[in-house]
Amino acid sequence: MIELRKLSVDDGMDVYTMLQEIPKEENGVMNNANGLSFEEYKEWLRRKYADSEQIGLMDGWKVPSTTYWLYADEKPVGFGSIRHFLTDALRAAGGNIGYEIAPKYRGKGYGKKILGLLLEEAKRLGIGRVLVTIKLDNSASKAVALANGGVITGQTNERILMWIDTAQKS
Ligand SMILES: CC(C)(COP(=O)(O)OP(=O)(O)OC[C@H]1O[C@@H](n2cnc3c(N)ncnc32)[C@H](O)[C@@H]1OP(=O)(O)O)[C@@H](O)C(=O)NCCC(=O)NCCS
Repeated sequence: MIELRKLSVDDGMDVYTMLQEIPKEENGVMNNANGLSFEEYKEWLRRKYADSEQIGLMDGWKVPSTTYWLYADEKPVGFGSIRHFLTDALRAAGGNIGYEIAPKYRGKGYGKKILGLLLEEAKRLGIGRVLVTIKLDNSASKAVALANGGVITGQTNERILMWIDTAQKS
């Protein structure tokens, strides 16, 4: 069974352990929980939860975003996040959706699965078109986005820009 679960302040050791196995930064995807103590991670969960609920956000520089864990057979194997809207900076790098699979679980189809499930969530959040920005040399992520209906619409010096229509999702 594969499913997305929304980040909760009650998340525990299974998610904490996975986040310690995922680098702090990889291909522009940040994991700020890497290196935290368990108590610091619980505090970090509260901040991430607030990011989703739009509690205490400053206007202009930071947009609401929701974090999800991908669970496969009751084990967390990766995470994804949805930014609810875009700024000019995010249009060039970052986009609406980011995703990462823990290294030991890669190459099993979870990357394609998590993006598919995140697109369904984005549709539920009312986001009709989703931007994904992918570093030029990130072949795995390009394959993930293309398999999920991504259409390449542009390129910066560092990234290709792909839009995905969420109307195709259930
Ligand atoms: C990108 C990422 C999420 C893919 O996760 P995954 O679980 O390995 O993906 P999948 O198993 O669904 O494989 C997706 C495709 O990538 C291909 N692929 C996997 N690893 C690859 C690699 N190192 N080089 C080239 N292609 C690769 C697979 O062959 C598959 O394509 P195919 O179906 O056409 O054969 C994962 O590599 C990751 O977390 N990377 C670090 C963070 C990141 O880059 N996130 C995306 C930012 S835009």
